[in-house]
Amino acid sequence: MATLTHFIKDDWPGYSLDLFSYPAHYSGDLDCVIIPHGVIMDRTERLARNIMDDLGNHAIVVLCVLKGGYQFCADLVDRIKDLSHNSNRTIPMTVHFIRLKSYLNDESTEDLHILGGEDLSFLAGKGIVGTGKTMKTLLKHVEAFGPKMIKVAGLLVKRVLHSSACVPDYVGFEIPNRFVVGYALDYNEYFRDLSHICVISDTGKMKYKI
Ligand code: HPA
Ligand code: MG
Repeated sequence: MATLTHFIKDDWPGYSLDLFSYPAHYSGDLDCVIIPHGVIMDRTERLARNIMDDLGNHAIVVLCVLKGGYQFCADLVDRIKDLSHNSNRTIPMTVHFIRLKSYLNDESTEDLHILGGEDLSFLAGKGIVGTGKTMKTLLKHVEAFGPKMIKVAGLLVKRVLHSSACVPDYVGFEIPNRFVVGYALDYNEYFRDLSHICVISDTGKMKYKI
C-alpha cells in the first residue's frame, strides 16, 4: 500500500495553460494543466528516495511499462541513480521494457496485450519495481516468474468508482477520474510530446479521434 500520496481534489480546476509554455500545435486541444512538469519532477525525486529507503541493498530490476510509463521510468531511474551515486550504498540496477496496449480514444478496451514481455525469466529471485499504469494483469504475469519481491511505482492513480484492489506501492499523485495526457501519456498516440500532465479538451478529443 502506498503510504503518502499527493491528493488532487475532484474540484481542482488546474492551472491555466497561459501560465506555462507548451507546444503550440496543441493550442485549443487542452483544458488545463493538472500537474506541471516541475512538480512531477519534484515528486519523482521523493519517490526515488522512498524506494531507496525500502529496498536497502537489494539489486533492482526495473520493468518499465511502455509506452506511457517511459518518461516516469526514465526520470525515476535517473533520480535513483543520483541518490545511489551520492551515497555509500550503491544499488545495482538493470532496466527492462515491456509494452501494454489497452486504450482506444479515451476508452479502455477489453483486450490487454503484453508485447515483448513473454520471457521474464530474468526476474527469478530478484526484486523489481514496475512503472506504468495498467498493473493488474501484468502483476499476475510477473508473479509467475518468481521474483523475490515486487514493488509497483505509479505516477498517477485515478479515483475510479469500481477501483480494482491493486494500488501501487509508490504513488505520485491521486487524481480525479478525468482523461489526462502529457508526460508520455497519450490520446491515440498524440500528446506524448507534452511535458505537463494536462486535461484534454473536447476539441482535442474530436481532433484526434479514430
Ligand atoms: N490518459 C492516457 N492514457 C490512459 C489514461 C489517461 O487518463 N487512463 C488510462 N490510460
Ligand atoms: Mg495510451
